[in-house]
Order: sequence, then structure tokens, then C-alpha cells
Amino acid sequence: MKQFTSAEMEERAEAILLRMTLEEKAAQMVQVPVAYVTREEALLWARRGAGSFLHVLGDDAREIQQEALQTRLGIPVLFGIDAIHGHGLNQKATIFPSQLAAACSWDPSLVEEMGRVTAREVAADGLHWTFSPVLCLGRDTRWGRVNETFGEDPYLAGELGYAIVRGYQGDDPADGEHILACAKHYIGYGEAVGGRDSCDTEMTYRKLREVFLPPFARAVEAGVATVMTAYGSIDGTPFTASEKSLRTILKEELGFDGFVVTDWDNVRSLVEKQHVATDLDEASLLAARAGNDMMMTTTAFYESAIRLVKNGKLDERVLDEAVRNILRVKIRFGLFERAEQRGEQEKLGCAEHLASALRLARESVTLLKNDGVLPLGNSVRRVAVIGPNADDIRAQYGDWTYFTHPHPKPKYTAARPYVTLLEGILTLAKERDVDVSYARGCGVMHEECDDLDAAVNAAKNADVILLAIGDVVQQAGEYRDRADLSLSGRQEELFLRLRELGKPIVTVFISTKPLCICRVAEESAALIVAFNGGMFGGQAVAEAVFGALNPAGKLPISFPRHSGQIPVYYNNLPGWHGEKYVDLPETPLFAFGEGMGYSRFAYSDLQADAENLHVSVSMTNLGIRAGSETVQVYLRDLVSSVLTPVKRLVAFQKIALQPGETRRIAFELTRKDFSIVLPDEQTVVEPGDFLVFVGGSSKDEDLISTKISLRE
Ligand code: BGC
Repeated sequence: MKQFTSAEMEERAEAILLRMTLEEKAAQMVQVPVAYVTREEALLWARRGAGSFLHVLGDDAREIQQEALQTRLGIPVLFGIDAIHGHGLNQKATIFPSQLAAACSWDPSLVEEMGRVTAREVAADGLHWTFSPVLCLGRDTRWGRVNETFGEDPYLAGELGYAIVRGYQGDDPADGEHILACAKHYIGYGEAVGGRDSCDTEMTYRKLREVFLPPFARAVEAGVATVMTAYGSIDGTPFTASEKSLRTILKEELGFDGFVVTDWDNVRSLVEKQHVATDLDEASLLAARAGNDMMMTTTAFYESAIRLVKNGKLDERVLDEAVRNILRVKIRFGLFERAEQRGEQEKLGCAEHLASALRLARESVTLLKNDGVLPLGNSVRRVAVIGPNADDIRAQYGDWTYFTHPHPKPKYTAARPYVTLLEGILTLAKERDVDVSYARGCGVMHEECDDLDAAVNAAKNADVILLAIGDVVQQAGEYRDRADLSLSGRQEELFLRLRELGKPIVTVFISTKPLCICRVAEESAALIVAFNGGMFGGQAVAEAVFGALNPAGKLPISFPRHSGQIPVYYNNLPGWHGEKYVDLPETPLFAFGEGMGYSRFAYSDLQADAENLHVSVSMTNLGIRAGSETVQVYLRDLVSSVLTPVKRLVAFQKIALQPGETRRIAFELTRKDFSIVLPDEQTVVEPGDFLVFVGGSSKDEDLISTKISLRE
């Protein structure tokens, strides 16, 4: 396909724009929700020249595109879909671990591959654009959408965000194998007060720039084509109406040259939810002026925009600019050349793609505790698999699959292939001649056919008990924040009943996000965190249990001890007056970066060279198995003119070492890694002394440190 130069693209966009009527421009800025209009209305919108439709699959998309291509200007429609961890709204697609689970891999190349595979499957379905990745941070774990994040840390989220955008879009987004990405939700969405989805974010712009902007800046560096405006507000100004965040910061300062799409009906929400506009005309004016280029689902924007321009309230040049941004993306993406391209359905869920989902699931398995019971040795002849999440593929998948999403309609029958934990254990146990008994024990939510006695019975002759607990999709997602993060239903009671048997319990945590599991963690012999591992999450954990896999996942998020401790994250600003609550330690139950395997790694001889900002360390595998470990580099600014985090991640590398092997690992830092944001929002580097920490987690005891002096 012909590649256009930037000048040619601008010229082409301009030529189309010149021919467009006011009505065609207003329509181009509208994204139509197919599930909420009739077929006739959808076709009417196509004839009007709507810029995009969302949640259309297969043949419906082709019919709408045909209609659009027959219009006067024949501007093709962009079809957007929520392909969040795989093209999961389609039952034939490959389902990957959730973003949070994928982040446990700390492996940008595998996350890029997840993006690449998802892009191929979405493109094979004839669609163009995914509303992914989520670059909000998961710092308040009460929030229902923590599963969609890459965890709590700006740097890790930025690196994985960069990787997945590259995976979706490739070097040439017009090659038919790639799709457009959307960095969302811009910005500060996860910081809503009380973890309450879409509420106000009480935050200064200084903090926003320091903590929440960096992942979006990385996505812009990766060339992300679109950005989605968050639902919430910052200190009383809706993000949808925020010229400062959209025009000044995103477009002018970061140089984002794609287009901004609002989230679901944000424009109407300015009137009906946030009460900053009296009617849709006023709301449309605010949204367009602030820099939103496309309005998701608020189709009434069309009439409002036309009216506003005609009565002189809105300068038509504002529409021109938005439409130019949309056209530029469509041209760069090659949409005009391949609007009618038919997909290759056989790519969906093909062997190569499934292998990629398995690879990522394996790298995401995170072992947090092991008293030596794992991997199960030859003396273990009988295993009991117990718990509500041991054989529940919906819980294993988590949010954003064909099970959960209302559009297209949810399908409650599970499509193969997939492997639950029980199935994974059964397969590997058979090969090893190990007996397996199974009982669900209880449900996750309320009493759902609970039978704790049956679980105890099934476990009583076992050598080891595998207990799969966590949460279910009804407890996560939009509108589903939790005030209480303790284990729901009778899960803890089930654990305690099993505990009475006096056998080692290996707890497997299959959950959308961290919950407060202190007692279970303390009294389990081993604890594996899987979060939502996708199609092969169960297989990957089973492999780790039997030792076919040496787990290497690291937590991208802290586990609170108690809901009252939230938010808890590792990179907090320093304070004093005690390091603990009266009734609890301040530290998390498990910290950011934590995770062990069946090998043990030692760090020594840390060197930091202030001349070239070069950091190096020796790392040895002290274990008897080959294994991988993610080496993490943190910085602490010893004196700065504003408070800076006690530690913040600035680099990491995942290293595989043979038993007994020692290797020197090197990191190149940049001056930017040392920067801070001042109260006037300027980003500066203040020379002086810093501590460099290197090791296997963010916890002090897992790190060695040295001083580095940054010169002028
Ligand atoms: C969500 C977005 C999503 C959009 C389209 C919204 O409710 O917040 O993340 O992309 O719907 O489904």
C-alpha cells in the first residue's frame, strides 16, 4: 500500500475538508452506538457521514460501510471495539490475561505481542480500532476497573503501554494487520474520590503531571492514534470540558496529533450528571472547545454543533480542526484504500495466537509465598482442588469478554479452547499418576449452593490442598467499585475449615484485583496470584504447581492488608509520626515488585556512574533451577524543593540465569529519570544526591543501594 508523507496526508485531509458542508463536518465528529439505534437509523447515520460506529461486528459493519462509501464524499467509517485483553467480545477470539495480569509479567515484548495478535484478530473481523490500552493507574483498589490497568506505577504502566500501542499499530498501521489504539481514560480516572467510578479527582495539576501523565506521554511517543477523555473531573472541572488537559497539555505540550474521542456519552453527562451545562448545545460547545474531536454516543452533538455554528456561538474552525484530526488518522491508517477489505476469520483463535496467550499467562504467574511445598514433589500422590474459582472460566477471564459486555449481547456459553485450574491440574496429575479430588465448597458472592462439608470431605485424604479463591466479574468493572475488599461469601470460612485438616494449603488467587487476604496468606503454605489469566491461566498455574514452570511474575500493584488502609502504594511521599496505624502496620501485605520463583537470586557490587548515569549490578542464581527474575531500579531524591517519592521505579529488566550463573546487568538512566515537577507545573532536574536502589522488589529488604550525585 502506498505510504503517504505527512505533507501529502495534510494536503489530502485539507482537500476533503474543503469540500465538506457544515452538516458533514458535524457528522464526522459523531460516533454512533450501534446497540442503541435501529438498523435504519444506523444506515441513516452512515449516509449523513458519521465518523465512526462502535460495537459493530462482522456483516453489520460491512453494510454500514457500503452505505458510507456511497455518500457524496465517500469518507469511510472507522469501526471501534473494546478489544481489551484480546478481541474478547468475539467468541472465536484469543483471550489474553487481563492488563493487570499481563503486567505481572513485566515483559514489554510479550505485552507488545498481545497487542499484535489482538490487532490481527480485530482486523480479521473487519474492524479498525480498539479502545485500549487503559493507562490509568490502579492505586485505589476499591475502584472497579483496577483489572484494566497495568497496576500502580507510572513507569511500568508507561513501558507496557508503549509496548501494547506498538503491538496494535505496528510500524505501518495501514498494512492490514494492525489497528488503531486508544490511550484511555485521559486522565486521573482511577483516582476518583473513594474509588468511586467517574467521581471527582481531587488532585493538583502538579501531581497529575508527576504521576498520571507519564504513561500517556509514553503512548504519544509510541504514536498512539487516539486518546479517550475520562468521565470524571479534576478539582471541579469535567475532563470533557478541560481545555487545559486536552488542548494545552495533551495536544500542545505532548504534541499528540491523532484525535480525541470522548468516553460514553460524556457530552450529555455535562448536562445530566455533572451539571455544568444547561442543555446539550451548551455541553457540545464546552466539549468541542476543550478539544474533544469525536463524541462517543452523544449523537445529539450533530444538531447542536450545526446550530451553534449557525447562530455564531461556535467558530466553524473548531469543527475544521477536529475533522482534520479525524481525517488525518483515517488517511494515515489507509482506511480510504481498504474500507471494504474483508477479514480472514480463520486467524481468530489460530494456533499461533493461542500459543502467544499461553506464553503471557505463564510469564504472569506470581508466586508470593512458598514454605517449600511447591513445586509438588513425588511424595504428593493425592491433590484436592477446592474453591469457587477452580473451575469457573468466567472468573478466570474477568471483565471485557463475550460473557460480560452488554454490546454485542453477552453469550453465557463458554467457547473452547480454554483451561481452568482444575482442568490444568487434572491433565498434569494424570501424567504423574497423582489422584485428584474436587469440590467447589462455596460461591464467591453470597451463599450459592455452599457445601463446606463436601469440600472438607473431598480434601480429607489429600496430601496437599489447592484452594482457588478470589472474586467474580459481578464484583468488578464499571459501576462495580467495592467498599469492602475482604473475601466475599464464605471463602475465608472455607479456608479455615480446610485449615483444620492440618494439611498444606496452596492458595491460588484468581481475582480481578488485590483483595485483603491477610489470614489466608499467613496460614497458607504457598500463595500464587494469577489474577485473570485468560484462556490458559489455569494451565499456567498448574504448570507452576507441578514445577513444569518456574514462576517469575512480579506484582505490578500492592496488596492492602485492610480496606481502611487504601490507597496503599509503594511510591508515596514521605511523612512521619509513626510508621503504623494503631491497629495495623502501614506497609502493604505484599508490595509492588514482589514475586519469587523456585530459584533464588542474589545481588552484589552495585555501581552507579554519575558521569554517564550508568548503573550496573551483579546478579547470581543461587538456586538449582534455571529461572528468571525482573531486576528493578528505583531512585530516591535525597533533597528536593518539593516532596518526592520515597522510591520510584526508573528501569527494569527481566533476566534469565542458569543455576550458579552470575551476570553483570547494566542500565542506562537519563537525566529525565531524575526530574521532578515543581508547584508551578514546570518539570526540572535538580542536581544533587540520589540513592539508587537495585533488587527484586520495592521492599527495602530486597534492595541494595548506592549514592549517585547528579551534576549541573
Ligand atoms: C468505558 C470505556 C469504553 C467505552 C466503550 C465506556 O463506558 O468507560 O472504557 O471503551 O465505554 O465501550
